[in-house]
Amino acid sequence: MGKLNIGIILGSTREGRLSPQVGEWVKGIADKRDDANYEIVDILDYNLPLLGTTDGSEPGIAAWNEKLASFDGFVFIVQEYNHSITGVLKNAIDHAREPWNNKAAGIVSYGSTGGARAAEHLRGILGELMIADVRVHPTLSLFTDFENFSTFKPAELHLKNVNDMLDQLNAWSGALKTLR
Ligand SMILES: Cc1cc2nc3c(=O)[nH]c(=O)nc-3n(C[C@H](O)[C@H](O)[C@H](O)COP(=O)(O)O)c2cc1C
Repeated sequence: MGKLNIGIILGSTREGRLSPQVGEWVKGIADKRDDANYEIVDILDYNLPLLGTTDGSEPGIAAWNEKLASFDGFVFIVQEYNHSITGVLKNAIDHAREPWNNKAAGIVSYGSTGGARAAEHLRGILGELMIADVRVHPTLSLFTDFENFSTFKPAELHLKNVNDMLDQLNAWSGALKTLR
């Protein structure tokens, strides 16, 4: 079996968003492991319409589905918006179905309480899509892991959490590959 392909999905698209800093940090840790191919996936690149407001022929929708289909597992970079995930992430999730099924996911979240409430909402959604979400979940605080709520300076303890999450994610991504 070749190396697993893992997509690191940035859950926010707003101007000035923090998610690219967090996604690059996760990718940097992941790449050092040399155990899978890791790729950052930016929802912004796909220009996805609000689901159901068009005839669905936009090339970005097909490209989004193709990109998801190329992965064995996912890391969701999740930020808390009104105690949940962003509308953009929910819309992007809803734009695909089979490309999500029988895969695994890990969550890295941030917010005033580590994005924990958003992450728990996401877990409920992942269940419906038959995505197995792993237990270890790095939670980053806007107060202590970001300088002035803008420059990402993660505490040392998160490094082990990210690696533990990736251990679980890769084990389950490999196991679920046999089902597809
Ligand atoms: C519409 C909106 C709602 C938010 N609601 C919450 C919230 O309920 N809890 C929280 O901890 N942070 C909340 N925040 C703060 C965001 O988590 C913070 O701005 C974070 O940087 C957003 O991620 P992003 O920079 O990648 O867009 C909210 C931000 C926005 C824009």
